Amino acid sequence: MTDGIISFIGGGNMAASLIGGLIADGRDPASIYVTDIDSAKLDVLADTFRIQSSHDNEEAVSHASCVVFAVKPQSMASVVQGIALPGQAHRPLFISIAAGVREPDIRRWLGFDAAIVRTMPNTPALVGSGATALYANAFVSTEQHSLAESVLRAVGLTLWVENEDLLDAVTALSGSGPAYFFLLMESMERAGIALGLSKDHARMLAIQTGFGAAKMALESNDPPATLRTRVTSPGGTTECALDTLTAGGMEHLVHEALQAAYRRSVELGVEFGRDSNGVSE
Ligand SMILES: NC(=O)c1ccc[n+]([C@@H]2O[C@H](COP(=O)([O-])OP(=O)(O)OC[C@H]3O[C@@H](n4cnc5c(N)ncnc54)[C@H](OP(=O)(O)O)[C@@H]3O)[C@@H](O)[C@H]2O)c1
Repeated sequence: MTDGIISFIGGGNMAASLIGGLIADGRDPASIYVTDIDSAKLDVLADTFRIQSSHDNEEAVSHASCVVFAVKPQSMASVVQGIALPGQAHRPLFISIAAGVREPDIRRWLGFDAAIVRTMPNTPALVGSGATALYANAFVSTEQHSLAESVLRAVGLTLWVENEDLLDAVTALSGSGPAYFFLLMESMERAGIALGLSKDHARMLAIQTGFGAAKMALESNDPPATLRTRVTSPGGTTECALDTLTAGGMEHLVHEALQAAYRRSVELGVEFGRDSNGVSE
């Protein structure tokens, strides 16, 4: 990647992961700029990655061909409005990783027909194994599509959705999804302890089993259902356990859980879209 400066507004956990991923992918650190209100965070990022840093969001936007909004969703309205003038003058690609903040709101805060890619990453992005869905508005060029994808691919798998509303479904599935798997690991750990295993052993076995199952599913051409059938011998232990989960309504519960997360994502989108005076589009 050689194309222009990428400026990160907000130098927190996600920005650090994305910057680390981009540099590992071969991007020149001198082409990366980061701002934050916290000097200590900027010092760490500048020392770790040898990138440019500053407190000045407007200056960061003036230099950039791509601006990544990496602040909390609640900060987006004021941060975006704060860089609208240099944004309009320089017209970079804007990428938002802020969960739940909608593209029409970002465009309204910018005040012009900006090229915006809204993304929904998830927490494993922090260890380079994220799953990110991206949505581009009509003002994003082919080159900007590729640039946005390369930025998010630096921290894991990427896929595009054509309709922004689908990002609420993505939020329910992969955005919140890591916590579902953590809960399953916790439950398996506790159940293992109840069967006599030590806490350490039960935890290690639960985590490694989750990792191994995910790796097998990723590397196989077969869907998870086939993999499951293959490891379920008739009359065996796995079948007994799966029958118990099915009888307890696991599939229905997962369905309901994602429906609840989806509804909350839609609600949060409306809340985050409010301007400081409470106006929403
Ligand atoms: N972490 C995840 O796994 C994850 C997953 C999916 C999506 N996301 C999204 O990624 C975004 C960033 O998350 P994060 O975990 O990296 O948050 P974070 O660690 O809190 O980072 C945000 C940073 O932005 C700084 N900031 C606040 N206002 C600013 C301003 N006006 N100008 C410049 N910097 C400012 C914050 O400083 P202070 O701390 O001093 O306020 C903080 O250092 C969020 O919108 C979140 O929804 C995160």
